[in-house]
Amino acid sequence: MPAGRPFYLTTPIFYVNDVPHIGHAYTEVAADVLTRWHRQSGDDTWLLTGTDEHGQKILRTATANGATPKEWTDRLVESAWKPLLETIDIANDDFIRTTDERHERRVKLFIEKLREAGHIYEAEFEGLYCVGCEEFKPASEIVEGVGEYAGQKVCAIHGRPLELMHEKNYFFRMSAFQQQLLDLYKAQPDFVQPESARNEVVAFVSQGLNDLSISRSSFDWGIPIPWDDSHVLYVWVDALLNYATAVGYGEDDADFARRWPAQHIVGKDILRFHAVIWPAMLMAAGLPVPAGVFGHGWLLVGGEKMSKSKLTGIAPNEITDTFGSDAFRYYFMRAISFGQDGSFSWEDLSARYQAELANGFGNLASRVIAMVKRYYEGGAVPAPGEYTAADITVQTNLLAAALSADAAIEKFAIHEALAQVWTIVDALNGYITEQEPWALAKDEADRERLGTVLYTCAEGLRALAVLLSPVLTKAAPKLWSALGVEASLGALAAQPLRSAGEWGQLKPGTVVGDLEPLFPRIDAA
Ligand code: ME8
Ligand code: MG
Repeated sequence: MPAGRPFYLTTPIFYVNDVPHIGHAYTEVAADVLTRWHRQSGDDTWLLTGTDEHGQKILRTATANGATPKEWTDRLVESAWKPLLETIDIANDDFIRTTDERHERRVKLFIEKLREAGHIYEAEFEGLYCVGCEEFKPASEIVEGVGEYAGQKVCAIHGRPLELMHEKNYFFRMSAFQQQLLDLYKAQPDFVQPESARNEVVAFVSQGLNDLSISRSSFDWGIPIPWDDSHVLYVWVDALLNYATAVGYGEDDADFARRWPAQHIVGKDILRFHAVIWPAMLMAAGLPVPAGVFGHGWLLVGGEKMSKSKLTGIAPNEITDTFGSDAFRYYFMRAISFGQDGSFSWEDLSARYQAELANGFGNLASRVIAMVKRYYEGGAVPAPGEYTAADITVQTNLLAAALSADAAIEKFAIHEALAQVWTIVDALNGYITEQEPWALAKDEADRERLGTVLYTCAEGLRALAVLLSPVLTKAAPKLWSALGVEASLGALAAQPLRSAGEWGQLKPGTVVGDLEPLFPRIDAA
């Protein structure tokens, strides 16, 4: 089979100073839905995620917990961050840790190259550093402290005092890339998405860029600078490079050529690192810039960004233990416009679970399977007779919805793709109500019509199983198996998603099996 269109997607690599909350899970699910969609469409797909383990924030957390940073990160990665991927059913192709040897080796190659190309120099530097952000703060993000921090300069994001750092550092000549970056945003208007994020980045770069301090010498938890091991590499430069080192940069040219460039999905909190510093680093190294950077919105708690440092995090398994991973994935992808902020609410989650998953989709699936079993010998799907206008409307709407969903995924509008697919769920439920197959079943004279109606419903379910498989990773395979189509059509994962809406793929005579309730009733505790 020829390799399809390349699609390499990344999530941020998360700091392992603490355990994950639903904000991190949200990014993971979005990236996973996008890659599952592309993979199922035959694209040459790769999903990378991982952990960011160096820097002062992690070092201090480890020390405060009586562990070495390596002990601490090993513990958190194994006990919390890798298990997160199981909890929400992420099908990542690779997991990179910035403490991986492959990463450290390749980072050194990259940094050497920047220096040889003349983009690095040494200078004295003084600035106000936020360990929470792992960043020297620009004046616009420094505010006067209040309460216990009155009289001190604090970080506008973390609200904690900034630390005055005075060091001799190595610098990356980022200022030299201002015009090239502005040209990039102009030539590739979708390089930064959504539009609001793009405007912010363009405005920021238009003001002019400072050079970037890329080394630290006051602590040693990081990758040593190859030509001066009294310095370690700045944690953000180390972290951004994961996207290249994970696919072979500097050592496996074939892998790198196959995968690079990546499309990045990040939260808008770290957009600037990805849309400014990272492409500038790549330009300096003579490498292609990313395919694009999409900055999604924040999950809010009480109107504020849910965060580890403010202890407002909700653990993903608080939700999945009750509702399951499918509901988690569906809820966040459906209820929040991807690219905008959204507030999580238990009430909204419960309401959507009941109305959309249990009553809408789950009930449709179980009713159709049950009727095929009840009205047809051995549960064999009937052959359709002549189609009426109502049947043809179902078919044309299904095809249109499937194509619109695919187009929505192309522009990262995951919520819109799901809304499109849900028009099929609603249309089939409406069709059943109108056609009343239970009434048709009462009269032998309506036998052919009953066959057409139930074929239409079962074929609609076939399409829904495929279209929903990137999101409902547990329910879709259960439905596929109950439809009994594995023998005639093959595995669910092998169904080309982009042609899922083409009518008539289900073979009459296919024997349906049992379907356990896809979204069981949840009793309020
Ligand atoms: O920034 N809503 O790691 P991090 C939505 N290591 N998404 C959220 C969120 C919220 N309330 N809170 C966190 C770092 N996220 C760096 C990244 S990449 C080279 C290095 C998600 O652990 C979102 O994706 O602080 C955000 O960008 C990311 O977690 C920040 O994770
Ligand atoms: Mg953060």
